[in-house]
Amino acid sequence: MDPRLLDAARQAMAKAYVPNSKFTVGAAILGDDGVIYAGCNVENASYPEGWCAETSAIAAMVLGGVRKIREIAVIGPGDQLTTPCGGCRQRIAEFATAETPVHICGVEGLRRSFKLGELLPAAFAQENLA
Ligand code: THU
Repeated sequence: MDPRLLDAARQAMAKAYVPNSKFTVGAAILGDDGVIYAGCNVENASYPEGWCAETSAIAAMVLGGVRKIREIAVIGPGDQLTTPCGGCRQRIAEFATAETPVHICGVEGLRRSFKLGELLPAAFAQENLA
């Protein structure tokens, strides 16, 4: 894992806006340009309308003009693995491959690394629209 990812994800986690769940999440992407793009989860009073840290990080990457994820790290609180939700797996897949590393971290550091293909097998992607 790129050593910058953990710090960037941690810093993003500290900015999470989570009045409802109190569950702070940070995500950091190493883009294909070598730059780190981070994001946090942002909730609001209409519970289903909040969005995930991974979604924020992807938006930052696309705004930066980059459309390929080299690696992504996600960090959450507690003892469980904060793996990306189903919707975020699909959003990550749009800009990644089955081989792209997805690093799941806790506040202490890296806990487990997956390949995206393990988290989203047989993904539906742009080529399936052809
Ligand atoms: N959440 C994320 O930001 N990323 C994940 O990988 C899992 C869940 C957020 C959504 C919501 O704001 C809170 O965590 C509780 O589900």
